[in-house]
Amino acid sequence: SAAEKGGYDYFMLKEIAEQPKAVADTLLGRIDAGGSLTLDEVRIPARELREIDKIVVVACGTAFHAGLIAKYAIEHWTRIPCEVELASEFRYRDPILDPRSLVIAISQSGETMDTLMALRHARDQGSKVLAICNTNGSTIPRESDAVLYTHAGPEVAVASTKAFLTQLVACYLVALYLGQVRGTKWGDEIRAVVRDLARISGEVERVLETMEPVRELARSLADKDTVLFLGRHVGYPVALEGALKLKELAYMHAEGFAAGELKHGPIALIEEDLPVVVVVPSPRGRSVLHDKIVSNIQEIRARGARTIVIAEEGDEAVVPYADHLVRIPATPVLLQPLVATVPLQVFACELATARGNEVDQPRNLAKSVTVE
Ligand code: G6P
Repeated sequence: SAAEKGGYDYFMLKEIAEQPKAVADTLLGRIDAGGSLTLDEVRIPARELREIDKIVVVACGTAFHAGLIAKYAIEHWTRIPCEVELASEFRYRDPILDPRSLVIAISQSGETMDTLMALRHARDQGSKVLAICNTNGSTIPRESDAVLYTHAGPEVAVASTKAFLTQLVACYLVALYLGQVRGTKWGDEIRAVVRDLARISGEVERVLETMEPVRELARSLADKDTVLFLGRHVGYPVALEGALKLKELAYMHAEGFAAGELKHGPIALIEEDLPVVVVVPSPRGRSVLHDKIVSNIQEIRARGARTIVIAEEGDEAVVPYADHLVRIPATPVLLQPLVATVPLQVFACELATARGNEVDQPRNLAKSVTVE
């Protein structure tokens, strides 16, 4: 009913709008006044966490994209090698696991069969499993050694939005917590990021307030067949997520690529007026990456692409090459996906609407896939 949708036309729009609160709720009570992380609910003793020598993240769909982003944060802040694998591939390849491996299973519903089977396989090998889940008491957390709940509230729309942002927050919390417990050399950076994380819900809110041009752009592209997405570093999984949203909702051909791979194939797809969304990393921090993506934008534009550039406020270098420029607030490099994903969700939702598609219940898809 209209009341359930809180005045929005679709659950998806309501859930996109709820993201600042979902992010804030997922942080609530997990950072103390001194800026330290208190994840008491992760009932794996600190001694065991210090002994972990490998992390494997398993998940499906949008949750898998959260896992891809988690890898960058986990390896940078903890120096523990981290792999990310589709749950449906994981247990069929005889993965190397032992009691010093930590498996992180990410699932909104907590009922995805492939993710459940992957975690059972990991526990059979003696590995510890930490679930990141949005549904209290569901099967995946019940069968895990520990759980960190995301507090997105119920997600009804099939295409995941607010659950994804809270999965990212939970992954950052786990990575920072492991860094804290293990006393990694990133101590100061960890403290700074914790402070920025506490402010991030306000930044998500600011992005939501500036989405009208993105909706307009989406409507103008309703007759297109293909949209490509490019990103580097944590922007690469964001590109994959932007493409997934467009497939799920708009039934368009959409693909995400690592921008550095352009010359190895994707650039052959560029033709006159093809829309290409580019997620630009912060010009601060790893500025080499920024410079490289600016040349990527130049390269595709020279071949006729219509460039839709998602870049930080104050990033002037991209301006001459952006046919459409979407501004996002400046954040620490690793946190950028929390703000960069939002315009892509709005874009896909509006394109689906413009194409007359059923936004909350896309054809052929289920909210939770409980069969293999
Ligand atoms: C389905 C949903 C996706 C979701 C995926 C994983 O494909 O349509 O939105 O990302 O399952 O679901 P989970 O509940 O495990 O996060």
